[in-house]
Amino acid sequence: MKGRIFSGVQPTGNLHLGNYLGAIRNWVNLQRDFECIYCVVDLHAITVPRTSEQLTNDTLEVAAGLIASGINPDSSILFNQSQVSSHSELAWIFNCTAKLGWLNRMTQFKEKAGRNKENASVGLYVYPTLMASDILAYKATHVPVGEDQKQHLELTRDIALAFNSSYNKSFFPIPEPQIFGTASRVMSLRDGKSKMSKSDISDYSRINLKDTSTEISLKFKKAKSDSNPLPFSIKELEERPEARNLVGVYAALSSKNEEDILREFGGKGFGIFKPALADLAVSVLEPINNELRKLMNDKSYLIKVLKEGSNKASSISQTVLSDVYNIIGCVR
Ligand code: TYM
Repeated sequence: MKGRIFSGVQPTGNLHLGNYLGAIRNWVNLQRDFECIYCVVDLHAITVPRTSEQLTNDTLEVAAGLIASGINPDSSILFNQSQVSSHSELAWIFNCTAKLGWLNRMTQFKEKAGRNKENASVGLYVYPTLMASDILAYKATHVPVGEDQKQHLELTRDIALAFNSSYNKSFFPIPEPQIFGTASRVMSLRDGKSKMSKSDISDYSRINLKDTSTEISLKFKKAKSDSNPLPFSIKELEERPEARNLVGVYAALSSKNEEDILREFGGKGFGIFKPALADLAVSVLEPINNELRKLMNDKSYLIKVLKEGSNKASSISQTVLSDVYNIIGCVR
């Protein structure tokens, strides 16, 4: 094994193509070479208001989406965060390690809190220290994520370094972000300058793993584009964010590079490219969608997987936490 992977996904609404191409598909491939721990981060999800029904349903649905995409709960650890108390305990210690100035720089907090920052939860503000504890509670060496999580990972590294230096120990490894290729930032289908996101109010902005083939085709048909044919070089896509995004998605779905796609579609209009993209997306996503639906009909299986995963995760992270308490001098 080349190291230990940790990564997480929030159960907030539907998993979408950005989550799949930017993160989950890579998680599946990494299972071959790494010891993998994947977490449905339900405690992160309550940093913004959620009903209890939403949280329960979305937690199970994300677990189903991960398994349907190829995460194997027999070889990887798959669990939900709230069943493993070491995450919250370590987060408190990291709240005492991280500096206010570090958290004040987090762009995701600024984006999510918006103008009414006074009304944001304290949890949303300290979200990145909980994320650092998710990773470091397992002494993970590698963290595969999409581009948007880069700043949070830099903070995790700063926290690990600060903890090690406060106690004069090289206790925590400094985890490496793994951000892969063209799909590390999939953009909205309605606006090529903003990220595809679960929280966008327009469902037409994203392809959900739950969407039917008809919905996928319709969403690509309605996706914002422009009136020019596709160019022959990447450079000519620079001022065309929507076209660039659709080419990037095609490349990622077909595991080719963008040059190959432009070689095939250069000179052709969106009337030809969009249906080809929709067919490709359906061929990749339909089997996942079918499996996801099947799994959602067997909630007791999903609950069992998460319970077993949580037990395995606890046994690793409790040992790390106990070492941390000893290092900081808590009487045990
Ligand atoms: P979350 O739930 O927003 O997203 C899960 C994963 O999907 C990636 N992603 C994207 N990749 C490409 N294009 C997009 N449009 C796109 N949208 C999302 C994210 O980068 C992420 O890898 N804070 C994290 C969850 C988390 C976590 C952790 C991750 C909590 N603890 C520890 C890694 C390690 C989040 O909100 O991801």
